[in-house]
Amino acid sequence: MAQALKKIRKAVIPVAGKGTRLLPLTKVIAKEMLPLGRKPVLEIVVDELVSTGITDVMFVISESKSSIPVYFMAYPGVDVSWTVQSEQKGLADAVLCAEEYVAGEPFLVALGDSVISQFGPRHPTSRVLDCFENTDAQSVIIVQKTPRAESHRYGMVHPKRWDGNERFEIDLLVEKPAVEDAPSEYAIAGRYAFDPCVFEFIRKTPPGAGGELQITDSIGLMLADGRPVWGVPLMGEEIRRDIGTFPSYFEAFMAACLSDPEFAAIASTICSREQKPE
Ligand code: UTP
Repeated sequence: MAQALKKIRKAVIPVAGKGTRLLPLTKVIAKEMLPLGRKPVLEIVVDELVSTGITDVMFVISESKSSIPVYFMAYPGVDVSWTVQSEQKGLADAVLCAEEYVAGEPFLVALGDSVISQFGPRHPTSRVLDCFENTDAQSVIIVQKTPRAESHRYGMVHPKRWDGNERFEIDLLVEKPAVEDAPSEYAIAGRYAFDPCVFEFIRKTPPGAGGELQITDSIGLMLADGRPVWGVPLMGEEIRRDIGTFPSYFEAFMAACLSDPEFAAIASTICSREQKPE
């Protein structure tokens, strides 16, 4: 594929899920608009994308989440659009809702309930874009080393070949495997780059884990068809946090407060004051 056609400028952010694990909070507040310190999770995601050079963002929302595009109207540095996923059939179906918007270009998918911390001058998502542009990849996924005991919570991948640039080609993906079926310790971490051919594979994807259309399964179909799929691991202190459950939300919230450039000291004082003696 010519290099110009591998330059990614559009991103799709699926935010149409029901957030059932955070009920009753999510009855009236979109999960993705919950704050991490001073900003909603989703704003941190949009800022990340803008920092990597993304210029156009499409939110895939549900009927009840129309406050999301309102919040991002006239947001600096990015053109924002939205579309509605009428039935929550899973992540792959949410991505399919953006087919017309993507209009045949390669694109990024960023989960609206997951943030990835940055250490160093460039965000890890930049490495996804680099990998997509500079290899034969038709999909690139950020992955994070995760204890095998937690593999039932994630899509897991198997590295086939490292290329010497701290990234690898993938030869197997499994969505939420049992510990004994986990193909490695690398869990899919909420950022993906795709060639537009992914839509063809989403349409062929049968319902998977939880009865939903899983994007991991669509990428599995790409692999089975001989399309190259690559993984970009998080490194060093880089960490992905999702807010899907109360414990993971608490962790992400506290980490955001404790790293706030203005209020970290206050947050730290509150944490030590609230800690009950053993
Ligand atoms: P999750 O599966 O973690 O979110 O999807 P959920 O379905 O809202 O959560 P629970 O299981 O009911 O608690 C990851 C991201 O994908 C979006 C979600 O909004 C979330 O940001 N998503 C998921 C969609 O946009 N559509 C879907 O059909 C499913």
